[in-house]
Amino acid sequence: MSGTNPFLDPARQAELYGHASRLAGRSNALMRAKTAGRPVPDSIVGLVRNHHERPDRLGLVLDLGCGRGTSSLTLAQELRTRRVVGLDAAPALIEQARQRAKRLPALAVSFHHGDFHHLPVSAGSCDVIVAAFCLYHSPRPQTVVAEIGRALAPGGLAVLVTKALDSYREMDRLVAATGLDPRAEQHESLYVSAHSGNLADLAAVSLDVLGVEHEEHRFTFDGHDHVAEYLATNPKYDLAPGLYGDADALAATLHELLPDEPLTTRSLVTFVVAQARGGRR
Ligand SMILES: C[S@@+](CC[C@H](N)C(=O)[O-])C[C@H]1O[C@@H](n2cnc3c(N)ncnc32)[C@H](O)[C@@H]1O
Repeated sequence: MSGTNPFLDPARQAELYGHASRLAGRSNALMRAKTAGRPVPDSIVGLVRNHHERPDRLGLVLDLGCGRGTSSLTLAQELRTRRVVGLDAAPALIEQARQRAKRLPALAVSFHHGDFHHLPVSAGSCDVIVAAFCLYHSPRPQTVVAEIGRALAPGGLAVLVTKALDSYREMDRLVAATGLDPRAEQHESLYVSAHSGNLADLAAVSLDVLGVEHEEHRFTFDGHDHVAEYLATNPKYDLAPGLYGDADALAATLHELLPDEPLTTRSLVTFVVAQARGGRR
C-alpha cells in the first residue's frame, strides 16, 4: 500500500486500533523481545515525580491516546492523584481499558472516548497531561499541544513521548532482504509527524520545555516466528495480500526465504517534559 502515511490516514485507524487484540499482540511481541530500556509508564511516573512541584497532591491527570490504558493504570497506581482519566479515539481500546480497570477497583481511573484535538476538560484543570506514542497519529500535533497548554493548571506538567524516525530500521532491512517488500527501507517513517527530532520544537510552540530525555530501547526477537508476530501488524510495508495481519502465514514465508535467526533492532524513545506557558507560580 502506498500514498498517505498509514499512521496519519484516518481511513486506516480502524484497521490499526479497531480491535484490542491487534495492539495487545503487537505490544506483547515487542515487550517479549525487549533487552534494554525502562518500561515507559515507569519512566513517565519518574519524570512527574522529579519535575512536578507537588507530586504528592496531584488532582486530575489526563492520559491522551491511552490505548488499552497501560500507562493510565500505572499512573493511578504509582502517583497519589485525585483521578486519572484516559482518553482515546478507539472505542474497542477504551472498552478493554475499562475491563482492565475493573480488576483494580481501588484505583481512581476512568476511560473516555474522545479526540485529543479537543480535550473535554476546562482550561487550567489538569495537573499532569501525558501523550505517549500517540501524537504521531495526528497531522496537526501542534493543535494537540496547544490544547494541552490550555488544559494544564498553573505549574501543571506535560510529558510527551515518541520514537525516532529510524526506529526498527533493522526490521526494514530484513523485509527488504527477503524481497517481501523490496522498498521496505524507502518508506516514510510512521513517526514523521511527531518524532524524537521534532518533539521538543513542537512542544515549545505552546509550552515551556523543562527537559528532554532520550533512551535507546533494544529488542532481540527469537527468530522468524517472533518477528512475524510483530511484523504482521506493521502497516508500513507493501506485503503480498494474505501476509499483512497473518502472523502464521508471514512466519511460514520468512522460513522459506531466509535462515531462521534472532533479529536485534533498536528504537530511540524520547521524553519531553514541559509546563504551561508562564511556568511555576
Ligand atoms: C500506539 S497507541 C499508544 C497507546 C498508549 N499511549 C501507550 O503508550 O501504549 C496510539 C493510540 O493513540 C490513539 N489515537 C490516535 N488518534 C487519536 C486521536 N485523534 N485522539 C485520541 N486518541 C487517538 C489510538 O487509538 C491508539 O490507542
